[in-house]
Amino acid sequence: MDDSADQQDAARARTLVAGAREIVVLTGAGISAESGIPTFRDALTGLWSRFRSEDLATPEAFTRDPARVWAWYAERRAKVESVSPNTGHRALARIEEEVAAKGGRFTLVTQNVDGLHHAAGSRRVLELHGNIRRVRCFERSHAAASWSDADAAPPRCARCGSFLRPDVVWFGEMLPAAALEEAMQASARCDVFLSVGTSGLVEPAASLPFAALDAGASVIEVNPDRTALSARATIALRGSAGAVLPRLAP
Ligand code: OAD
Repeated sequence: MDDSADQQDAARARTLVAGAREIVVLTGAGISAESGIPTFRDALTGLWSRFRSEDLATPEAFTRDPARVWAWYAERRAKVESVSPNTGHRALARIEEEVAAKGGRFTLVTQNVDGLHHAAGSRRVLELHGNIRRVRCFERSHAAASWSDADAAPPRCARCGSFLRPDVVWFGEMLPAAALEEAMQASARCDVFLSVGTSGLVEPAASLPFAALDAGASVIEVNPDRTALSARATIALRGSAGAVLPRLAP
């Protein structure tokens, strides 16, 4: 983002954000890329490069090979716990404070499971796809506060004995209904919708910005690449979250 048109677009976007009554922000893996977390559309890294996430992040994959799926998530959890929020995450926390100080409403809807928005100080976060830092059991969803990583097979639930699994939404599983309903209602009533770092390929999250557009909201997209939303966005800012979001924040 360096030419005058981009500068003007960023200034227009900042004016929309600063004057908003209600803001909804949708984030995807792109906002955590600058913290060192690979996005989904990047190939799976390292020894997992021969797999697709669709082959690992499903209940069937876990039933077929619990140890392999548990190991993949244990590695991703360790990665997530070793990185920090970046300037993009922190800018969103400042925007939330600015909106709250004016008596407005702010809702952050994330598809990410890395917990970096909470770590950056965001308070009202709807985790549509769960959180990799939380673990529950496969059969009864009993939450597990601690577990041993001693052997390859997943640990077992202390209450029912079934395997533990990450508290994330796998392909083919339902999203948390309350969080999804809140996200859809907020998207239909907000006056500014900010879509950051998502390819917009996975439903139902991908429909949220279009619901906002259909309800008359101004939609701002932050992404270095074009997406299906770009052509309909009120303002499409071509750049990284870490570089662009601080320009939209106080
Ligand atoms: P993707 O990997 O599909 O898309 C990441 C988006 O971020 C792309 O459009 C990139 O261009 C953009 N991007 C990359 N670097 C960026 C940066 N520094 N700043 C801003 N944008 C950047 O990730 P998601 O859209 O989040 O679902 O994927 C959505 C869902 O698909 C995930 O939640 C996951 C996956 O299957 C489940 O696990 C259920």
